[in-house]
Amino acid sequence: MSLAVDQRAVESLLAFWADAGVEALYADAPIDRLAEGAAMLRAKSQPPPPPPVSRPGMAVVRSPDVASAVASAKAAAAACQDLESLAAAIAAFEGCPLKSQGAKQAVFSRGVSNAPLMIIGEGPGADEDAQGQPFVGRAGKLLDRMLQAAGLEDRVFITNTVFWRPPGNRTPTPQEQAVCAPFVERAIALVKPKMLLLAGGASAKAMLKRDEGILSMRGRWFEWVAEDQSTELPAMPTLHPAFLLRTPAQKKKAWQDLLTLTERLDRPDRPH
Ligand code: URA
Repeated sequence: MSLAVDQRAVESLLAFWADAGVEALYADAPIDRLAEGAAMLRAKSQPPPPPPVSRPGMAVVRSPDVASAVASAKAAAAACQDLESLAAAIAAFEGCPLKSQGAKQAVFSRGVSNAPLMIIGEGPGADEDAQGQPFVGRAGKLLDRMLQAAGLEDRVFITNTVFWRPPGNRTPTPQEQAVCAPFVERAIALVKPKMLLLAGGASAKAMLKRDEGILSMRGRWFEWVAEDQSTELPAMPTLHPAFLLRTPAQKKKAWQDLLTLTERLDRPDRPH
């Protein structure tokens, strides 16, 4: 094989990985995969409590512990009149079990405080845990590129359904999401977005209280309703950027979702 062919092959391989979101072939600091694996095993050996009974339109039945943590989250969130105090209240909150399962810090939000679009992901990963901001790792970089291509990069507020990294990057449980939900809801009340983009099945299920797979929900419009029913917003589930990194062939579906959402975001409000 000639040197020129080798170089083309290498360039093509690098372009393939770049397209899949892999932009660096090394990390700044060593990663202890054994410790990560051990954390995952520990998390798996402690099965989460059974999920609350939840169906659209039905009351949610919770254990007393979860109910009292939700009540204190509601009280703490209600006292916050701006995003800074909400961030501080989240950081000080002790009611979410994830806080004591190895997370380095609370990860609340990034973006524009009065953005027309709020993006709600599942929960922080390792990069977010290290940097204290949501969607700053590989999946976040892909999300940013998509937002930029859609002209949305300066029009979003980004947060998650839970604010502490679940050990081993497992999916947050419905209980953990329920405890953090009053803070998410308060963020929606303070930012006042026109619509929500729900990234991933765990976000869509929790925010919409629906038990459907993300592949059937994505790209469709739903109504998100505040717990006290005071607010309703259009909400669209979409594929999680981490899933797109693993399955690049699905990127066009997420792109289509983003275009549909952008078109509605920019549509002039009809007079009532
Ligand atoms: N995945 C998420 O759902 N949220 C983040 O903040 C990062 C990765």
